[in-house]
Parts: sequence; C-alpha cells; structure tokens
Amino acid sequence: MIKIFLIAGARPNFMKIAPIIRACKRYGQDILNYKLIHTGQHFDKEMSQAFFDDLDIPSPDFHLNAGSGTHAVQTAKIMVAFEDVCEKERPDCVLVVGDVNSTLACSLVAKKLRIKVAHVEAGLRSFDMEMPEEINRMVTDSITDLFFVTEESGVDNLLREGKPRERIHLVGNVMIDNLFYSVEKLQTERGQNFRFFTCNDGNYAFLTLHRPSNVDDAETFREIAGVMNEIADEMPIYFPVHPRTRKMIEHHGISFSPKIHRLPPLGYAESLKLWKDARIVLTDSGGLQEETTALGVPCVTLRENTERPITVEVGTNILAGSKRQDILCAYRAALGRKKGSVPPLWDGKAAQRITELLLGNFKDIRRV
Ligand code: UD1
Repeated sequence: MIKIFLIAGARPNFMKIAPIIRACKRYGQDILNYKLIHTGQHFDKEMSQAFFDDLDIPSPDFHLNAGSGTHAVQTAKIMVAFEDVCEKERPDCVLVVGDVNSTLACSLVAKKLRIKVAHVEAGLRSFDMEMPEEINRMVTDSITDLFFVTEESGVDNLLREGKPRERIHLVGNVMIDNLFYSVEKLQTERGQNFRFFTCNDGNYAFLTLHRPSNVDDAETFREIAGVMNEIADEMPIYFPVHPRTRKMIEHHGISFSPKIHRLPPLGYAESLKLWKDARIVLTDSGGLQEETTALGVPCVTLRENTERPITVEVGTNILAGSKRQDILCAYRAALGRKKGSVPPLWDGKAAQRITELLLGNFKDIRRV
C-alpha cells in the first residue's frame, strides 16, 4: 500500500485534484491510501467550497486554515501547519499540482522530511521571473521526484534543466479530465440553479482578470478596462470578479461600462456554462487558456507570455499582452480564427495515467 497526500489550496488546484481523487478511488484505500489536504489558501465559499460541491470533491482529511497574507506569511503558515501533519502521518509521497504558493510550500516541507514529491503540471515555464507562479514552478521542479507533464514543451524544459528522462512522464492534462467530466455533468444534470443566465445566442464575451501584473498597477488596469469598455460596445461582456480584482477596482477607482456585467466569483459549473457558450474568452488565467483550446472556444490571453505554448501553437489561444492596440488586434484575429486542434493526450485520461505511474514508480516504498 502506498500512502499519498494530495494537496489542494487555491481555486485552480481544485479542478486538478478532483480527477486525481476519482482515479485514486478506483484502487481502494488498501492499495492507494490517499488523504486530501486543503491548505486554506483560498477560503471564501465561492473560491473554495463551491468547487468542492461542483466537482464532487470529498471533504478534506486535513484543513490547514492558512488563509491570506504576503507571500512569505502565506507560504510560512502553510509550511508550519503541513510539517506537523506530515510528521504525524508519514505519507510515502506528497502530490502537488500547479504553481500556487500551496504547491511550493508543501513540496518544500515534504522534501525536507525525505518524503517523495510528485508534481502534476511540471515543466511549464513562462520564462518570466516576475510571475510568482514561475518561481513556484521552478523551485517545486527543482525538488520533485516524479514529473507529470501536460505538453511537450514541459518535457523539453525539464530535460534542458537536467532532470532525468526516466522521471519525466507526459501524461496529458488533468484540467481537461475535469473539463470533460464537468461538460458531461452539465448536460446530464439539467435544471441547475444558475444565477447568471445570458442570452442564449452566444453573442457575448467572457472575461476573467486577476494577475497582479494586470490589476495591481493602476495604469495597466485602467488601460485594460478601457479596451474592455470598447469591446463591450460590440458585444456584452460577462465578468466574474476575483477578490483581488474587486479590491483593486475600488483602490484604483476603475470604471466599467454598464455593458460589462460584473458578477461575483462563480463556481466551476456556472463559470463553465458561461464561457463555453461565449463567442470569445478574454483572460489572464492559466487554466482557461487550456480549457478554451480543448473546447475550441476563441481565447485572447491578456499576458505577454504563456507557460502553455501549445495552446497558441495548435489551440485557439492568442497572446495579446495588456496594451490597447494589441488587445484589439488579437480580439479581431481570434473572432475570425479557425477552430484549432486539441493537444495530444488531452483525452480525459491523464489522472488514470498518473495513478498507474505512481503505483509503478513507488512500488519499492510500498508498505505492507
Ligand atoms: C492565487 C495564485 C494564482 C492563481 C490564483 C487563482 C499564488 C502565488 N497565486 O492568486 O497563481 O491564478 O490564486 O485564483 O499562489 N482572497 C479572498 N478570498 C479567498 C482568496 C483570496 O478574499 O478565498 C483575497 C486575499 O485576501 C488576497 C487576494 O484575494 O487579498 C489574493 O489572494 P491570494 O491567494 O494571495 O492570491 P491570488 O491572487 O488568488
């Protein structure tokens, strides 16, 4: 039996951990003994519990209640609390997903306690060290034992950084496992209580915006908001507002056109319902770049770079940055662009591959 800790802390982790839990369940706890750890990085109902409900994630076995803070405070709080749980429970492996502070904090703790670290979504690189996520990705990968990679560029990056080939596994994308599961659920579970229905003709845009580089600086945020107001004259925009963004809108006094419908943060299902039927998605999210590619929805990414280049190479994603002209140009190009294709292995079976590899690779540390 392998005892494994699955780490989830922030909103984008929940979508990635849900299919892994489903895949673990297929084995039974006597073979793959998993425990879910919620670090508490995200804590509002709409940023956390709504996702547990939508994605059928069981209640966490341990909740670290870390909450918000500066990067150092948040990371440290998670580390202190997680070390305690690890020392008591002694898992064989800690599996982290993505690139948030919880990913970094828990992998550091595990490695120092000589517990194996598995990283799902390893190897992605934006080559932009101003992004906190890039630092989290690089540090996590520097101490990871088993790398689970979503796209070929991740394999190339890890090899270039000297990681051993035999520990790198291109498995596909758990985010897309979750997407397919949720699209099916949306079709079979009719009559869900969604609060925000749009006109069903799909002639609207869906916007998300929360990167510190876009919303923390007043001038940048004002420029992006100005272009969104222009686009809203052509089609209405639905905009679920992240807590960080909400604070910054107030702080900078940003004004939006009434044709931009500002919504509270949405659960996974309601958000999916809105963006999958949209004519275009405008976003600075990492995950949405991949999800729009998987469903063939045009996407304009409001960033200068992406750690997910396959979405631009074969998918529907166009990088726009944060300048007015560039965004308008990308917006027009995206509306007229062909559908794109779905990257290899983004087939809904990534989590299954991951659990098989976990059992195969850690058989030498299996408990009896
Ligand atoms: C974090 C991740 C980012 C990810 C994003 C998705 C890091 C470094 N960043 O950024 O990669 O794309 O999550 O949402 O880990 N807040 C609330 N309620 C909550 C959560 C946060 O009000 O439930 C507030 C916090 O108090 C803080 C702000 O939102 O003021 C930012 O939260 P934080 O977890 O620090 O980072 P995110 O911007 O959410």
